[in-house]
Parts: sequence; C-alpha cells; structure tokens
Amino acid sequence: MENRMLYFGDNLEILRQRIPDESFDLIYLDPPFNSNRNYNVLFKEGLQDSPAQIKAFDDSWHWTKESKRAFDYLVTKTNENISNLMLALEKIIGHNDLLAYLAMMTIRLIELHRVLKKTGSLYLHCDPTASHYLKIVLDTIFDKQNFRNEIIWKRTSNPKGSQFDSRKFGQVTDTILFYSKTENYFIDVDGTRRKLTEEEMTDKYPKKDDKGSYLEYPILRSASKGERPNLVYEYKGFTPPKWGWVVRKEKLIEIDKRGDLGWRKNGSPFRKYRPHEDRGEPIDNLWDDILRIQSNSSEALGYPTQKPEALLERILKASSKDGDWVLDPFCGCGTTVAAAEKLNRNWVGIDITALAINLIKHRLHDHFGLGKKEINVDGFPADLNGANELFKKDPFEFEYWALDLINAMPSRSKTKENRRGADKGIDGVITFHKDKVNGNTEYGQAIVQVKGGGVQRNQIAVLKSDVEREGADSGIFVTLEKPTKPMKSEAVDAGTFTTPITGKREFPKIQILTVEELLKGVKPDLPHGLVNNYYKEAKATEREPSKKTQAWLMF
Ligand SMILES: C[S@@+](CC[C@H](N)C(=O)[O-])C[C@H]1O[C@@H](n2cnc3c(N)ncnc32)[C@H](O)[C@@H]1O
Repeated sequence: MENRMLYFGDNLEILRQRIPDESFDLIYLDPPFNSNRNYNVLFKEGLQDSPAQIKAFDDSWHWTKESKRAFDYLVTKTNENISNLMLALEKIIGHNDLLAYLAMMTIRLIELHRVLKKTGSLYLHCDPTASHYLKIVLDTIFDKQNFRNEIIWKRTSNPKGSQFDSRKFGQVTDTILFYSKTENYFIDVDGTRRKLTEEEMTDKYPKKDDKGSYLEYPILRSASKGERPNLVYEYKGFTPPKWGWVVRKEKLIEIDKRGDLGWRKNGSPFRKYRPHEDRGEPIDNLWDDILRIQSNSSEALGYPTQKPEALLERILKASSKDGDWVLDPFCGCGTTVAAAEKLNRNWVGIDITALAINLIKHRLHDHFGLGKKEINVDGFPADLNGANELFKKDPFEFEYWALDLINAMPSRSKTKENRRGADKGIDGVITFHKDKVNGNTEYGQAIVQVKGGGVQRNQIAVLKSDVEREGADSGIFVTLEKPTKPMKSEAVDAGTFTTPITGKREFPKIQILTVEELLKGVKPDLPHGLVNNYYKEAKATEREPSKKTQAWLMF
C-alpha cells in the first residue's frame, strides 16, 4: 500500500478489495448521519427509494434492498454474536432508517476491525442520535473489554435557536467512541496534555519572587502515603514528621540552590513550582476546549461537516506515533489526512465523492505543497472508458471529476446540498486575472458546463446566452462525446475576447473541450493568472483571492 493514498469510491468495496489485514495503527471515522432529522423519523417503517436513485450517501440511511442485503449478510455470514445482535436489533427497532444505518455501519466496522493492527485503536465519531446503538455494535465486534472511552466533544456553546423551542435541552455535543483492538494497544495520553493559556498560567502561578512566578507545591509527604524513615532528616533546622520529605537530602539541597524552596511564616517548607515546569493539563474524556469550525474560521473550507484539525491532532497524538499508519474511511474534506500529514504519519483516506477527493488534493497542495507526485489517487477514471463508466454510474460524480480536470470550482448550485435545486446551467467557474486598476486586481470569469450524454448545437447557443446573462467573459463546454460540426461552428461564431492585461491576444468566447482531450492534458485557452477558490465561491472582481488559493493553480 502506498502512503499518502486517496481512494475515490465506496469504502466497503475498497476495504474488502484493496486493504490487507492489520494495516493500520489508527482509524478515525466520521460517517454521515443526518441527525437533524427527528429521532422518531428514523423509526419509520418500510422499504423506501431504490438504491439506484440514491446518490448522496447521507440520503442512503433508508431501509432499501441494499440495506436488506447488508442485513442478511450480517445475519448469515458473520459470527454468532454479530448475527444475534442484528436479529435482536431487528426485533427491537424494526425495518427502518435506523436499522439500515446500523447494518451499513456494522458491515463496515467488521472490515475496519480486520484492517486494524493488534496494537491499534479506532475512534468512531457520531452523535447521541445513535451512539448508544453503535456502542453495542462496537462492543460486539471489538469485544466490550476493548472499549476505552466515550469522549464527549462539546463542539459549540450556542445550540441552534430551533433547539431551544423543542422543549428539551440544547444539543451541543458529539460522541466519539474509542476502542482498541486488544489490551496491548499503543497510547500516549501524556503527549496530548493541553498547554495553558497565558491567562490560565497567571491564575495558576499567582506568587512571585526574584526568580519569577511560582505556585506553592508540597515538599513533604502526606500521612496517607505512610511512614518513610529514610526520608526523615533535618534541613535548615526543620525536621518533618514520620512521613518524611518528598525527596532525598541531595535533591532537596539542589532544589534549594536553584531558588525553588520556600518557607512559610509558620516555618513549614514548600516547593516553588515554576511555569516552565508546567506540562499542561491532562486530557480527560470531556473535550470542551476545541470549537467546531465556524464559517469565518481560517480553517473553513466550506465543507459542511468539516471537523477541526485540533480535534484530529489530539486523537492522532494519543493513539499513533511518527511514521504510523492512519486511515479515515469517510474522509470528507480531509481533516484527518491533513493532521496526519502535519504529524508525519502515513495516511489513507477514502471518500465516495469526487468533490471531497478533489478538495483534499487542493488542501494538501495549499498547506503542504504536495502535488500529483506525492499524493496517490485511486479510483478516478484514467481513460475515456473509465470516464464513460463513471458517467453511467453517477453523472454528478462525473461532473465533479471533469470540472477538476480544468481546475474549475464547482458552482454552488451544484453542491450536494443543492443537487435538487435550480440548475442555472452553470456547473463550474474558472476565475482569472483580467486587469489591474490602481494596484487592484480585477477578475474575469469563465463559466463551465459539463455534458456526459448526447450533445447538440443548441447547447452551445444556451451556453452563449448564459455567459451573457452572468456577465462572464467566456464559456467552456466540456463534453464526453465528440462535438458535432454545427456545435463547433456555433462556438466559432461566438467570437473572441481580450483583457487589458493580455492586450491584443484573443481568447475564444466559447470553447468546446472533449474529456478525451482533457485526459491528454489539453487545457482551456484562458488568460494566465487563473484563480481557483475551490469552495469559498469568490465573486470575481469583488474580492481579492488569497495567496494560498492562487497557489492551487499550479497543482
Ligand atoms: C461527515 S463527512 C466526514 C467529514 C470529515 N471528518 C471532515 O472533517 O471533512 C462524511 C463523509 O463520508 C463520505 N462517505 C459517505 N459514504 C461513504 C462511503 N460509503 N464510502 C466512502 N465515503 C463515504 C461522504 O462523502 C462525506 O464526505
């Protein structure tokens, strides 16, 4: 297995077909779960949409033929405990979205247990909607003895307004279930200690002497620790009770010489504990010091379920070490992957959407300068056949993949949440430098349409009018099929455009590019200085893109 590996596809298939047993030291998973849905809705009975209609994974927790297949597999092909558990769950909760979710999760957790090393750990991120059921599933697969913690992550202090209306307390926490594969697992809790803020340090070390701030700390053993005659000795006229000093005499002299021994008015000694000796606060299972990503946070990439890197760094520091292997089978916009890269771990990420995989590539390039050579991507079409297959399997995924071939940013109307929303005919956008006025850059825009199926002349005419309507400079038509002669002619008739920066150089107003050409490395004919703000839909000409987003272009 290559390190720095991204797989595009369903993690169940990838785990089963590509990942050998005992490959990973740490697995973190944050599977989608639409917990905004009413808890009771999850218990709605009955077979719902056909799997073929389901594209977005977050919609797929319905009791479908696919979940029934997973359920039957679990009942008939796994060990007795899992089989009995599934039958019991079926009895208790019936055939509904929740059972579908649990069946889909159980079948994956079995594989995740298989690919975990004996010294490895798994962290399952979920919320109270189903955490109690998932714990039973994990107890069964991992063995209840290997349950280590239920970590409560307080992600916000401000529950949404609607939650106040619902006659219950505001929901502000997520649950992270931590299991190890065996008793002999790696853990470095000490390495996760939290550094105190300046304010906390001032509170904790309130006293001052010539050497600086300090905290009074015991230098005498307490009675509860019992007698220690060898630690009972006289020093500077003081002899402790029979429990003794904390240290031997030589060490005490050293401490005193350093200026770290103090005497109270009543003559009793204490140790001066200094800020530089502070190892930070030990971490317990209530994590309330890491805030969720706010839309204006510098880390925000616009991915709806993005988790903070600090959260993943804590998990990685506790349960893996330099050079270890980390897997995130639901990797989203790549928070685990980014934290793993930062902490020098080997990593593998899996996601079922091209959007997520593309975003991770940009994120890693942006933050760590990693390019195509360093990041291995598996599952994207490598040739025209592959592109055709992807289009047949999932036109949306095909579109995201094709947009990335020309470094276009998917248009907001095309994001997953809006899939059923109005499609203004714009699949993606490319932004480029157009002019420099009084030292300020102005930006031009090319709008992109991607077509997988049959193409015809009037689609070019429509693109032309979309370009006009949006006030864009150019339109790019990406097609899987070869364009017809009338289409090419319509594109030529649209003429050209120039920009103040590029002078007389003319660029086609409308251009048609085939997927085959793009796979061979052909790029759209556009002015230099392209800007790719992948998610934060920069309104061209209004906002100066950040240096980091500009760097994506070189990817
Ligand atoms: C909750 S998000 C993960 C967010 C991630 N922790 C982050 O910080 O960006 C869940 C992700 O799982 C992906 N996903 C859903 N079903 C999947 C499957 N069967 N195989 C692989 N990825 C899947 C979704 O596309 C989504 O990106």
